[in-house]
Amino acid sequence: MNWEEIYKSKLVSVEEAISSIKEGDKIVTGFACGEPFGIERALEENYENFKNVEIISMLTLGDSPWVRPEMKDHFRLNCLFASPSNRKAISNGICEFTTSHFYEIPDIIENYIKPRVSIVMVSPPDEHGYVSFGTTVDYTKGTTDYCEVVIAQVNKYMPRTFGNSIKHVRDFTYFVEIDEPLPEVKDVEITETEMKIGKYCASLINDGDCLQLGIGGIPNAVCAQLWEKKDLGLHSELVGDGVVDLLEAGVINNSKKQSKAGRTVLGAAFGSSKLNKYLNNNPSVEFHPIDYVNNPSIIARNDNVVSINSCLQVDLLGQVVSDTVGLNQFSAVGGQVDFVRGATMSKNGKSIIAMPSTAKKGLISRIVPIITEGSAVTTPRNDVNYVVTEYGIAQLKGKTLKERAKALIKIAHPRFRPHLIIEYIKRFNDEPFTKEELNQQADVIKENFVVDIKNKLNLDTE
Ligand code: COA
Repeated sequence: MNWEEIYKSKLVSVEEAISSIKEGDKIVTGFACGEPFGIERALEENYENFKNVEIISMLTLGDSPWVRPEMKDHFRLNCLFASPSNRKAISNGICEFTTSHFYEIPDIIENYIKPRVSIVMVSPPDEHGYVSFGTTVDYTKGTTDYCEVVIAQVNKYMPRTFGNSIKHVRDFTYFVEIDEPLPEVKDVEITETEMKIGKYCASLINDGDCLQLGIGGIPNAVCAQLWEKKDLGLHSELVGDGVVDLLEAGVINNSKKQSKAGRTVLGAAFGSSKLNKYLNNNPSVEFHPIDYVNNPSIIARNDNVVSINSCLQVDLLGQVVSDTVGLNQFSAVGGQVDFVRGATMSKNGKSIIAMPSTAKKGLISRIVPIITEGSAVTTPRNDVNYVVTEYGIAQLKGKTLKERAKALIKIAHPRFRPHLIIEYIKRFNDEPFTKEELNQQADVIKENFVVDIKNKLNLDTE
């Protein structure tokens, strides 16, 4: 049979495709912009026909129907990245959560979780019979090698991407054609605080460096500060819209990379149609499975890797909490540790953890004496080097415990510095600052106190 005949023989209705799912099955599904919503909707609508089925997935941009009360005994979700629609269900014990570094997830799913069924989203086949996993290659593509049943939603909106991102139609069990625009992750406006953080991060980036940037306000603020740089590279587990203008303008041109020179390397992309248009049929961008992209030894093949990731809390030892708030799972480690370690192993590499100094509208400090009880350390203190807030840069490697704590107090929000200084004295039985330094700190604290009060008054009179 030629590929067209193979494709036709596997093209079925969604009802027929999902009828291959049995009681007790484990189903791994594509995630984020590659989540096969068209097929998932059919599972959701016909939930009563299924019994005790486990859905395994990462971040969802959807509403996680599997955690609704009526799904009990029919579907349960085991996610590897908590999302707004299932965080509460994880805390309530309705949804399961599996923790793993992103680069290990393909192995964890294949060899430990062992799903029988895979449901993914792909582009339509090309003239040779190859479909592309488009913007979500990560753990998704590999499932076609080991799952007994592989069902693909063929969607004309899924960009065709290059690299290790294609599979032949013969590698699938069923195809279901459902065209629907991919969910979009729109850029939010960059705040003043993020802009300051972006400037400090950019000050650590040199011409020719190879960047890992995630998505969200801080990576976008960093991108906004890179216009004066030259010959940057990009090797990242995922990217958002922030990088598109820099790529199109040639500020990021990958020319100085030792590995994959001239090519951007990605595992996934979440953005708007602007990003998807840039990625579609673009041979300068390679998508690869995440056990390649996020493998620290692959990351370190490039010199001058700079990784930029965010977090929720850092303690005075430099332990970084990025995915839990106390006992509650907020997100997941994702590729944070993969890239922190890859950047550290890279010749002249730098790993940066960047965050606003406060959370909850300024009510709490993210730099704390002791991490919140119940939280899990995401990046251990021995891995962490640069920590950046809107108040500056703390460089931690090679520093004593006291020096680390002092560096972190200096970039904490001034309102919280007195408390941190007291906790420093209690922990180390020593004074963190000389009288002169303390006076400087007192000036900054006083200045900020006045600004805070003014802001408060403005807010109150609005
Ligand atoms: N204690 C309590 N709540 C906190 C907190 C803390 N220490 N720090 C932040 N929060 C709250 C915030 O106030 C905010 O709540 P609100 O929306 O009600 O104000 C919420 O938690 C989210 O914080 P924010 O900093 O805005 O999150 P973010 O969307 O910028 O994401 C991470 C930051 C750290 C959660 C995210 O980057 C992540 O999940 N990282 C781990 C994975 C990773 O790094 N992958 C690699 C790159 S993609």
